[in-house]
Amino acid sequence: MSESTAVSGQDTIQESFVKRLDALENENRDLAEELETTKVEREEVRAKLFESLIANKKYLREVERLKKENLLLKRMPLFLATVVEMGEDYVLLRQHGNNQEFITTAPAELMEKIDANTRVAINNSLTIVRVLDRSVDVRAKVMELVEAPDIAYDQVGGLEGQIQEIRETVELPLTNPKIFADIGIEPPRGVLLYGLPGTGKTMLAKAVAHESKATFIHMSGSELVHKFIGEGAQLVRDIFQMAREKAPSIIFIDEIDAVGSIRTHDGTTGSAEVNRTMMQLLAEMDGFRTRGDIKIIAATNRIDILDPALLRPGRFDRIIEIPMPSFEGRLKILQIHAAKMKRDADVDLEEIAKVTAEASGADLKAIVVEAGMNALRRNASIVGKADFDIAVNKVLGDEVEGSEEALRMFS
Ligand SMILES: Nc1ncnc2c1ncn2[C@@H]1O[C@H](COP(=O)(O)OP(=O)(O)OP(=O)(O)O)[C@@H](O)[C@H]1O
Ligand SMILES: [Mg+2]
Repeated sequence: MSESTAVSGQDTIQESFVKRLDALENENRDLAEELETTKVEREEVRAKLFESLIANKKYLREVERLKKENLLLKRMPLFLATVVEMGEDYVLLRQHGNNQEFITTAPAELMEKIDANTRVAINNSLTIVRVLDRSVDVRAKVMELVEAPDIAYDQVGGLEGQIQEIRETVELPLTNPKIFADIGIEPPRGVLLYGLPGTGKTMLAKAVAHESKATFIHMSGSELVHKFIGEGAQLVRDIFQMAREKAPSIIFIDEIDAVGSIRTHDGTTGSAEVNRTMMQLLAEMDGFRTRGDIKIIAATNRIDILDPALLRPGRFDRIIEIPMPSFEGRLKILQIHAAKMKRDADVDLEEIAKVTAEASGADLKAIVVEAGMNALRRNASIVGKADFDIAVNKVLGDEVEGSEEALRMFS
């Protein structure tokens, strides 16, 4: 009995082991399955993470792009306006040029800096994007003001006839206005100089201001329309105002073709703006008719595109061509610029004037400077013939080659 009990006891133990084993195996299987699912899940999460990383990159790139676009928008042509009035959350602006008024807002950090009369830059959608300095700075930027430039007539080579003409029309009315009053004629108001680049137009204008001890106010037509968009007309007004304050004065309008070219009516803001600047210029020119102490000298190398309104008699009293220098002119110009230069005995300025038929005054000056540089480069203290020969080739070489090429093309 006891034996059978022992056997059955063994059986039970064995059975329970088998059961336990089974259970463990089952558990194992479950765990293995679980592991599999976890693995799959992990892969899925990984894939998702990867996707988010990619998305993140994409957004970062988008942010960069938007930042750039923002910058670009800020750099887009801006218009100028003056604050007329401001409240808690609005700004009333008056746009320069067309005097349109409108209400807009600005970012909080800009609002703090704005006051009535502040000048601001607005973009196409009339949002304030920048606050500008006071107008004096802009005024100072657009024109160069020289009390009396230090160029005398004898520093201008050739152009004797032109100097004579300009003295009659600009210098005489400034220095001796009484003559005109006595005779009973209106003093001339200004001249227009035209000619190729580098022929001495700017120089001549400065010389007249020097000799008539007048304030020289230099403004550039192209800067007026390209740099100070929306403000051209106002600046023209400012410039004439300044000329009146500093009289006697000469207003030198360089590159007048930029404002005074034949008016376009293509309806763009750009051309409307140029037209307004031009109208203001004409109005100012007509306005100071009776004043003898302000003169205008304008210069252009594109007289062919100038608005006939500017060329009409009564606007400019003389229209003077500044030609390319003749042989004598070239010799004079070379002598002027080489006056202080130590030259070798073999340097023959006449010879150089002969071979530089196509050179402008500016070219001739460049030749002299370049010859000096050549001497410096070889450590010499005296400039020799070879230095000049090399300089002539360097300054005029391209032009000569260019024209030969052009000839070849047309033959
Ligand atoms: N007739 C001249 N006599 C002496 N120097 C001259 C003469 N013409 C030009 N130059 C020299 O060339 C330089 C440039 O000349 P200037 O600026 O007067 O030319 P410009 O006719 O006004 O040219 P642009 O049409 O390009 O404005 C002068 O500073 C001067 O050194
Ligand atoms: Mg010039």
